[in-house]
Formats: sequence, structure tokens, C-alpha cells
Amino acid sequence: MEISDWKKLPFGYKKTNYNVRCYYRNGEWGALELSSSEYVPIHIAATSLHYGQEAFEGMKAYMGKDGKIRVFRWQDNAARLKSSAEGIRMAVVPESLFRDAVFTAIRMNREFIPPHGSGASLYIRPLLIGTGPEVGVKPSGEYLFMVFVTPVGPYFKEGMKPVEMMICRDCDRAAPLGTGNIKVGGNYAASLRAIEAAHQAGYSNVVFLDAREKKYIDECGPANFFGIRENTYITPDSPSILPSITNKSLIRIAEDMGLKTERRKVPVEELELFEEAGACGTAAVISPIKKIADPVMNREYVIGDGNPGKITLRLYEKLTGIQTGDEPDPYGWIEFVE
Ligand code: PLP
Ligand code: COI
Repeated sequence: MEISDWKKLPFGYKKTNYNVRCYYRNGEWGALELSSSEYVPIHIAATSLHYGQEAFEGMKAYMGKDGKIRVFRWQDNAARLKSSAEGIRMAVVPESLFRDAVFTAIRMNREFIPPHGSGASLYIRPLLIGTGPEVGVKPSGEYLFMVFVTPVGPYFKEGMKPVEMMICRDCDRAAPLGTGNIKVGGNYAASLRAIEAAHQAGYSNVVFLDAREKKYIDECGPANFFGIRENTYITPDSPSILPSITNKSLIRIAEDMGLKTERRKVPVEELELFEEAGACGTAAVISPIKKIADPVMNREYVIGDGNPGKITLRLYEKLTGIQTGDEPDPYGWIEFVE
């Protein structure tokens, strides 16, 4: 294993030993297969290649101080993959198959799990693709479910250093009645132009607004938005955002810390009232936000004093503490990999 400095690991792809695969043919799932190839032979007319029949998940496994491997809330990822599959009419991966595939992929790549305390973790990427040939626009009759893993560091290279983001007003990631609430590849393709514009303007990522009125905050790149004001954790309610498992966990933790929580529309102008703000997700964990620019409206919202906010830090410590085993898990969110 040539990873010499786990602490410097970027959020990127590194080859591991194995991935797992399972084919759906003739109306049923086959046996789980182990593969050491990084490639997938695929029919030239597969529906995933032409019509975007593809969904994925993102989850992490953590090495505890006790040497035990922990997986966080995998049942929620299994349920979300189910709703993604139903949303674009793919075969549903049963929960037991999802668990088997994820846990096998972790077990077969133990040496790639970053050590406790490195700040890195093993990113797990389940994906489901339509493999059957179709030329008309219709669902495939055949699917391939795969899981690969790769060791990763923080998604936002700034880590816990607050970032600046840019509101995009000439690009929508997802429509209110579209596919924003499920995790399908097309949403990410649709976000690339805005992410590139934000990067070119010197920002870490993009803040998407609701597509219909362009009045409310939707999401921050590959993460949900939250803001803190008057001891309240506030996060957008919108039909076009991905229901984040991290966000759901933070809401629970915030409630148990004595904060009020609100899931509701968040008008852009409310940004000036937030004492703290952040982007949250499996890859992002929590990335504090210190500024959101709205160049088209010629406005800039500065949040906090440039340091991560106190409540943001407490939420971060509690969440990552549970994930790595440094804190007890009163919610039953962790399952150990034997
Ligand atoms: N929003 C988008 C668009 C994402 O891609 C992700 C990542 O999965 C999230 C939010 C955060 O979701 P979760 O916390 O379940 O990883
Ligand atoms: C995750 O947080 O797991 C994601 O899927 C984000 C990813 C698109 C980088």
C-alpha cells in the first residue's frame, strides 16, 4: 500500500483490490461476484449510456480507535437507492443485497481503510446502471449493481476552514418535479456548468436556488445547506434537493443539543441573518461557509467572523465522534464490519 500520508489524502479515486458486482437478468438478481478489474464491459446500446439510467450512493466506513470498522446509517443509503431506482424505473436492489455488497467490498479492502485519527475514511460508492440494449426511450430489462471503495480525505480541501460559495442564477441543477430529490447521475451532469463558473470566479462551490422562483436556497454543490440563527438549526425544504442523511443526522444531534430545528423555505435574503452556515453531506461532512456571493444581484452575504461557528464545531465534533467511535452512538447509526 503506497499511501504514506493518510492526512494528505485528497477526495479522489485510488485503486483498491476488489469491487463487487451483481447482475439483474430475466427479472431476478444473480449471485454477488468479486472482481479485481476496474473496468465494466458494457453494451453499446445500454440505457445508462444513452438515457441516463444510472443512480449511485455515497457512504463511508471509519476505523475506530478500538480497531473496529464502522459503517454509518447504511440502511438509509439502501432506502435512497431504492427511491432513485424507482424514480428512473430501474430494478430495485433489495436491502439484503445492498448490505452484502457494501460489507463485502469493505471486508475485501480492509488495508485501504484510513487509520483512526487521520481525518480520512473509506468512501463507498454503490452504483446501479441499466445495461440492457434499447434504442427507444424505455427502461432497460437488465441492470448491474456494483460497489467500489476508495480511501478519501475531505471533499472541500479547506477542511474545517470556512469556504466562500457563489449563487448561480443562470443554471438549474434540478426542476421541482424533476429528479433533484433522488441521486441520479444526470443531476450531477446538470450541475457541472455552474460548478465550473463558481471555480473560475474563485469560489469553492455553487449555491443553487429553487428553479421556479429563484428566491430560495436549494443546495450547495454536492451537499445540503444549513444555517444557524437564534439557537435554531435551519435547513431548506424543497422538492428538488437530495434528502441528505448527514443533514437528517445533524437535525437529530442539534435537537438533542437543545437547539430548535426548522426545515422550511430559506429565502436568499435571510442569509444576512445567519450567525453560522455550512454545507453538509457524506463527502463534505460539514464545511463551514463564511461568505456567499450573489454576483448577478451585486450582493455578498458575509456569515460569521471567518472562523467556524461554535455550534457548527459542536455539531461536527458530535457527528464525526459517533462515526469514528470516539463518542457513544445513542441512535444506533453504526454497524460494525466483522
Ligand atoms: N446533496 C447532494 C446533491 C449530494 O450529492 C449529496 C451527497 O450525497 C448530499 C446532498 C448529501 O447527502 P448525504 O448526507 O446523504 O451524503
Ligand atoms: C456524497 O457526499 O457522498 C456525494 O455523493 C457527493 C459526491 C457527488 C461527491
